[in-house]
Amino acid sequence: MNRQFFALGCAAAVLASAAAITFAGAQEAPAADASPIYGVTIPEGYRKWELVAPAIEAAPLNELRAVLGNQIAVDAYRAGTQPFPDGTVLVKLAWKQTPSTEFAPATVPGAATTVQVMVKDQKKYAATGGWGFGRFIDGKPVDAAQHETCWTCHEARAKAQDYVFTRFAP
Ligand code: HEC
Repeated sequence: MNRQFFALGCAAAVLASAAAITFAGAQEAPAADASPIYGVTIPEGYRKWELVAPAIEAAPLNELRAVLGNQIAVDAYRAGTQPFPDGTVLVKLAWKQTPSTEFAPATVPGAATTVQVMVKDQKKYAATGGWGFGRFIDGKPVDAAQHETCWTCHEARAKAQDYVFTRFAP
């Protein structure tokens, strides 16, 4: 090996180990705004994403919900691509069901309850079907115990659709 190549090799090794340290650090201690276990954060700009479908949960939570998807998610839905490709992000918003003050039979969103996120990354989340999960209340992630329930339910009940419940609303 001549000197020039040796120097290049050293530089590459230093860069690689720096990257490894950064990655290991991120894995061990997710940022305060990231979910435990998965390190998922609330994606920037998600409120401008396209609607995939609304949903209602009658009891016990009595919630109105809306699932939004980023461009990769929406393209995959439209093309019927499954499994969803890496980079897919789905966000579920939820509010308490509240009667309209103007017209009581109508139900409208009351207080916001949770924001839930699913991120597809086959490699990073290989142990959970390629999905990383995050649940947030007032912008802050809930504890690890709650995050353990995500994969259990999605795996058990939505396996046939790449672990995603929501279908694109017609
Ligand atoms: C007991 C079952 C259950 C558990 C536990 C659960 N989910 Fe879900 N999830 C659902 C159902 C059912 C839907 C479909 C939309 C709806 O009805 O609200 C859904 C929808 C979603 C969606 C929209 C994409 C999709 O699959 O339809 C996201 C994002 C999501 N859940 C995240 C989470 C996160 C994060 C957790 C853990 C903190 C979690 N879920 C735990 C049942 C569950």
